Amino acid sequence: MKIMLLGAPGAGKGTVAKLLTAFDGSVQISTGDILRAAVKAGTALGKEAQGFMDRGELVPDSLIMGIMEQRLQEPDCANGFLLDGFPRTIPQAEELKTLMARLGIKMDFVVSIEVPREVILDRLTTRRTCSNSACQEIYNVKSNPPAEGGKCKKCGSPTIQRADETEEAISKRLDVYNEKTAPLIGFYEKEGMLKKVVGTSSDVVVNAIKAALGK
Ligand code: AP5
Ligand code: MG
Repeated sequence: MKIMLLGAPGAGKGTVAKLLTAFDGSVQISTGDILRAAVKAGTALGKEAQGFMDRGELVPDSLIMGIMEQRLQEPDCANGFLLDGFPRTIPQAEELKTLMARLGIKMDFVVSIEVPREVILDRLTTRRTCSNSACQEIYNVKSNPPAEGGKCKKCGSPTIQRADETEEAISKRLDVYNEKTAPLIGFYEKEGMLKKVVGTSSDVVVNAIKAALGK
C-alpha cells in the first residue's frame, strides 16, 4: 500500500502505521521518528531540528523535503509505504505532489484519523516510547503498557516520555496542527484522495483502511 496518515498529535498515526506494516510488509516512514533518531545521534540534522521539536513547532519544510526525497528512493519503499506525519504543511504537500510525479509513484489515498481532543490529551500524557532509535515502539500506560520495569516488549530497551510531551509543548503541537496541518484535509479532499476515519479504536481505523484498499 502507498498511503498517507494525517491526524493531530496523539491521533494514533504511529500506532496504526505499525499495525499496517505487520499486515503487508509496507514500511512506516515517520518523519518524527527520523528526526528523533537524528537528535539522539547528535547529527547536524538533529542539532538543527531539536529546538523546533522540543518547543512543539514544525521543523522547516526545506529540511523535511530533503530527508523525504532521499527516503522515498530507498529500495524498501518499492513494496509500499505509510507516510506518518508527512506532509504537514501545504508547501510540503505541493512539493510532495511534484516529487511523486517525478519518481512515478502513485499514492492509493490519504487517511485522516479523527479523534476527539480530550482523548488526545489523555493519550499524549500517558504515552511511553521505546528509547532505542531503531525501534521507537509506542506504548501507553493505560491502554498498552510496556513490560515490567518499563522495558520495551520488542527490544528490551527502557521506554521514556518524549521531549515534546510537556504540557506546554503538547498545547503548542495541537495549535500548530490546527493552523498548519489541518488545511491538508481540504487539500486532499480537492485532489479526490481523502478518506476520513472517525474512531478511537485502532482496529476500526485499520479495518477501514484495509477495506478501502479492497483487502
Ligand atoms: P511526530 O513524531 O510526528 O509527532 P505528532 O504528529 O505530534 O504525533 P504523535 O507521534 O505525537 O502522535 P501519533 O498520532 O503518532 O500517535 P501515537 O500512535 O503515538 O512529530 C514530532 C515533531 O517532529 C513535530 O512536532 C515537528 O517538530 C517534527 N516533525 C515531524 N514531521 C514533520 C514534518 N513533516 N514537517 C515539519 N516538522 C515535522 O498514539 C498516541 C498514544 O495513544 C500512544 O500512547 C498510543 O499507545 C495511544 N493510542 C493510540 N491509539 C490508541 C487507541 N486506539 N486506543 C488507546 N490508546 C491508543
Ligand atoms: Mg507518532
